[in-house]
Parts: sequence; structure tokens; C-alpha cells
Amino acid sequence: MTMTVLVTGGAGFIGSHTCVELLASGCDVVVVDDYSNSSPAALDQVRALAGRPLTVYRADLRDRVALDAVFAAHPIDAVIHFAAKKAVGESMDIPLDYFDINIGGTTSLLRAMWAHGVHRLVFSSSCSIYGASAKTPLDEDEPAAPTNPYALSKWTCEQLLAQACQRYPELAVIALRYFNPVGAHPSGLIGEDPLGRPNNVMPYLMQVAVGRLERLPVFGDDYPTPDGTAIRDYIHVCDLAEGHRLALEHLGDATGLRVFNLGTGVGVSVLQLVEAFGQACGRPIPFQIMPRRPGDVARLIADAGRVERAWGWRTTRGLADMCRDAWQFQKLNPDGYRGTTAPVLSTSET
Ligand code: UD1
Repeated sequence: MTMTVLVTGGAGFIGSHTCVELLASGCDVVVVDDYSNSSPAALDQVRALAGRPLTVYRADLRDRVALDAVFAAHPIDAVIHFAAKKAVGESMDIPLDYFDINIGGTTSLLRAMWAHGVHRLVFSSSCSIYGASAKTPLDEDEPAAPTNPYALSKWTCEQLLAQACQRYPELAVIALRYFNPVGAHPSGLIGEDPLGRPNNVMPYLMQVAVGRLERLPVFGDDYPTPDGTAIRDYIHVCDLAEGHRLALEHLGDATGLRVFNLGTGVGVSVLQLVEAFGQACGRPIPFQIMPRRPGDVARLIADAGRVERAWGWRTTRGLADMCRDAWQFQKLNPDGYRGTTAPVLSTSET
């Protein structure tokens, strides 16, 4: 692909892996990130992995002046929009931040795209918009029923993108609804490194494995599942990155909004994940059964059929790969990116 792609949130977990995938496929990449939950060091590792430069701007998407300068400086063909806040629990505490950053960031980006004649967008959405739907597996036609401000912000963005596409028929938008992204690049150079105490199960497990945290709290063992713990559809971040590259390739197929689940279709319980991670790191992971976490549901599994029918694509990496690669990143970076000696970038660097 010979395209110039703007990646918002490119220093984050999924963004950084997608940048590697795009650079490897021949795209030129421009990143906008405010590093509010990521590190510039991730992008140094991306450059090292891809063996190619990329351009980085430190900016908040709601800063239209900064965004206009980025679009004016580069011949952007398409945008992949990751930059957003993503912690479900936090969103209950500070919903207005979630609405402002996630929805305000998206509308600001759309306005800048429109002003600069850029009509192609891949949007980072989430299976959380399905809410507490009891359906298994979940297909894209399942009605949205967001149960927290984070999910509501993603669903609102999907809706406003749909309306924008109606008003501006030149727009081509693909929303990708991720299930539970985990794993890391097999090199161990980039991976998931949340700031502060992890909310999600995999980064928590990784930090228990290196002794930064004592034991994993397992939230609930009384769900109606075979071992009583909740089931999720974990997807390897490299599969997810490939999905984004493919979405870019298919943006030109049609205008309007198209929506795809990205998951494996395979359900894994918390205890199965703990066991698999223990295998990967060569020792059992200490855990403790705790009460259920408010807002959690028993089972969330993707029907990943639509993307396969549309693009002939399915995930190729399994649970053992996810655990092996996540462990490789944690082993090489026990303190995450804070342990690396990468220089801090300021406004822009090629
Ligand atoms: C949530 C969102 C998802 C979002 C993801 C990342 C929903 C329905 N899903 O996924 O859209 O992309 O966060 O922000 O809102 N668990 C433990 N111990 C822990 C942490 C988690 O047992 O310390 C369990 C949870 O109870 C759950 C499973 O592990 O059953 C996965 O939890 P988590 O990694 O937080 O992801 P979700 O809540 O499924």
C-alpha cells in the first residue's frame, strides 16, 4: 500500500501495533498522540521494529489549530482513529471527560478531515456497546445497549459517523468493534503498558508474573459458566493490527458506514487465561477469588463471520500465542516503557 495514514493514538497499545503493520505494508504513517495513557518510547520501538521512520505530533485532538497544521503538512489519504479514553470503571467516575475526549475528539477530527478533503476513516469501536446482551455469539446486528459512559461514548461516535455519512456521501467509514485485545508483538519490543494499576485482566496478570503485583483478583466464580468465572473473546493485538490494515485496504470498496466485529469467536474463562499464562511464563500465577466486579457480564463472544465473509479474513493466533507474546513483552520490560531509555519527543519528529 502506498498511502499516507494519520493514526490518532498511535503510541497506545493497539495503535503502536497497527503502526508497525502499516509501516511494514509500505504506508507512510503520521501519528497524533497526547501521551495521556501512552509513552513516546513505544514509537521509538515502532521505528526500530519497522526499520522505517514515522512522523509524530504531540497534540490533543480537540485542538483544531494543531490538527489543521497536521493535515496541512501531510498528504493524508486516510485516518485510523484510536485516541480515546477506554477504562470502563473510570468512565463511571468521570463521564464528562469521556464524552468530551471521546466524542469531542472524534467530531474535531471529522471537521478537520472534511476541511482538508480527507474522506476515509477507520474508527476504533468496542464490543462494550452491546452491553449486557445475553446473546452468544454476538453479531453486528445485535442492538446497542451501552451500560456505562465509555460504551455510550463509542456508540454515540458510531451514530454520529452514520449521520455524517448520510450528509456527506463521499465519506467512507469502517467501525471496528474489538472484543478483548491482549498479547504483544512477538519481538517483545511493544506491548500493553497501562499507566497506574491495571484495570484489565491481562496487564494485571503480566504484572503478577513479574512480581509487581501479588496476586490476581478473580472477579466472581459463580457465573453460569463451566468453571464459574466469566468468559471473554480475547484477540491477539497483532491480529487486530492486521484487521486495521485490511480495513484500510477496503475503505475504497464503498462509501457510508460499515461495522465489523473483530474477535476470534472463541470464549476463554478467567481461570483458563490464568492457567494459559502460567504455562507461558513457566510458573503458576497466584490468584484469589473475589466478589463479582460491578457491571461485568458472564459471557461476551464475537460472531466474527461478517468480516470473514466480507474480506475472507479471520484471526490466526490462539490463546497460547497471546500469553507467550504478552509474557515476552513483560519479561523484556518488567517496568514497562518507563524502563526504556528512549528519548522523549516534543512536538514533531521524523
Ligand atoms: C472491558 C470492555 C471492553 C474494553 C476493555 C478494555 C465491557 C463489556 N468491556 O472489557 O469493551 O475494550 O474493557 O478497556 O465493558 N478480571 C478479573 N480480574 C481482574 C481484571 C479482570 O477477574 O483483575 C475479569 C473480569 O471480571 C472479566 C475479565 O477478567 O470477566 C476481562 O476483564 P477486562 O480485561 O477488564 O475486560 P472487559 O471488562 O471484558
